[in-house]
Amino acid sequence: MHFLITAGPTREHIDPVRFISNRSTGKMGFAMAQVAAARGHAVTLVAGPVALATPAGVTRVDVVSARDMLAAVEAHLPACEALVMCAAVADWRPAQVSAVKLKKRSMSPVLELEANPDILAAIRDRKGGRIFAGFAAETGDPRAEGRRKLVEKGLDLLVANDVSQPDAGFAVDTNRVILLTGDGREQSLPLLSKLQVAEQIVAWMEQAARRT
Ligand code: PMT
Repeated sequence: MHFLITAGPTREHIDPVRFISNRSTGKMGFAMAQVAAARGHAVTLVAGPVALATPAGVTRVDVVSARDMLAAVEAHLPACEALVMCAAVADWRPAQVSAVKLKKRSMSPVLELEANPDILAAIRDRKGGRIFAGFAAETGDPRAEGRRKLVEKGLDLLVANDVSQPDAGFAVDTNRVILLTGDGREQSLPLLSKLQVAEQIVAWMEQAARRT
């Protein structure tokens, strides 16, 4: 299969030196790419700004903002049979972006925001026979929100992680996830390395592709 995987945060600039973003380091998405490539799949990895080396055998496309990431996903989706949206895409961006560094004295203490596109919503009607997986970063029990996102975003698999735990979610090498699937099933995995979590997800997607 050809996997399209997104990883890392997006950065939404206020001016050339300031931006809004989030805590994603790309570790989970890069683990997905490493595992998919090691299992013999072609992998295109769309990465937000992260400090990680490209896994062997992976084609990497670097992006900055959510709109850049949407454009890259739209460009590469037609060649792919599986999509994994692991990126923590910023939902909002500053309404105005300054081309020059803003002076502190001339800045407003209130930042006006506008909504970024939802990448999964934007490509939903181009899914065809592809397998789509998304992640949900939640604080507290991620089941209810995860299942809502699975349905609303038209996914086959939603990987829900409770990012309030110190050994799961952002910026660590381990994760504790619940796999929610379109047929109403759920599977809670124990604390695993992100590579082990990725093995489970890629294996699930391989099986799902065989069923279609
Ligand atoms: O990178 P790490 O430090 O290893 O951290 C990993 C992680 C915590 C970032 C990862 O495991 C994770 O949970 N990624 C998804 C984070 C997220 O943005 O969740 P969400 O609930 O906001 O979004 C749900 C889904 O919609 C995601 O698949 C997301 O990529 C997608 N989305 C979100 C916003 C948007 N504008 N467009 C989208 O397509």
